[in-house]
Amino acid sequence: MKKLIGSNKFKTAVFISGNGSNLKSLIRFSYLKKSPINIKIVISSNIKAKGLKIAKRFKIKTKIFSFDKNIKNENDVIHFLIRNKITFICLAGFMKILSKNFLNKFKGKILNIHPSLLPKYKGLNTHQRAINNNEKYSGCTVHLVNSKLDSGKIILQKKIRISNNETAKSLTEKILKQEHTLYPKAIKKLFSNR
Ligand code: GRF
Repeated sequence: MKKLIGSNKFKTAVFISGNGSNLKSLIRFSYLKKSPINIKIVISSNIKAKGLKIAKRFKIKTKIFSFDKNIKNENDVIHFLIRNKITFICLAGFMKILSKNFLNKFKGKILNIHPSLLPKYKGLNTHQRAINNNEKYSGCTVHLVNSKLDSGKIILQKKIRISNNETAKSLTEKILKQEHTLYPKAIKKLFSNR
């Protein structure tokens, strides 16, 4: 992997909608010398997202967009990203679907983290569905984003054992903890191949 220092790192936007625990781990990672990303902006689809407080604590610029499905709205986001010279996007608990037009503008430059072993359990409510199906394992996946939900190229996965008395809550916590190390690892892996 090329060593990227300071301003040579990829100018990154993290998109969130909620708690922002993955955002926090990405911010910490971005401070490391070996990290290829520099988080310039946190964009939220939700004005009440707790993650916004995390961004502010780390003095990272924040911006809210509704991500409503209309061209004007979407172009506002695209122009904002271009104005800020953003070249890489991490979705971290982002609950909106990005349009094909948006994805084409950032082809191959958007990563997402999903709390299941994709291609299993795309979409929402993954943990309960895995438990209901008596799965022995679940996990988390970092993948490139394409126009099909949770279907882009898989970069890295972590497998986690589902224990006997597992609840959706306990599994969420267990997997979330692993997500926090998987996402940075996947970013390193992605850029080591470029
Ligand atoms: C994570 O489980 C992530 O995989 C999913 O949404 C959750 C977001 O958690 N897409 P947080 O906001 O990063 O704490």
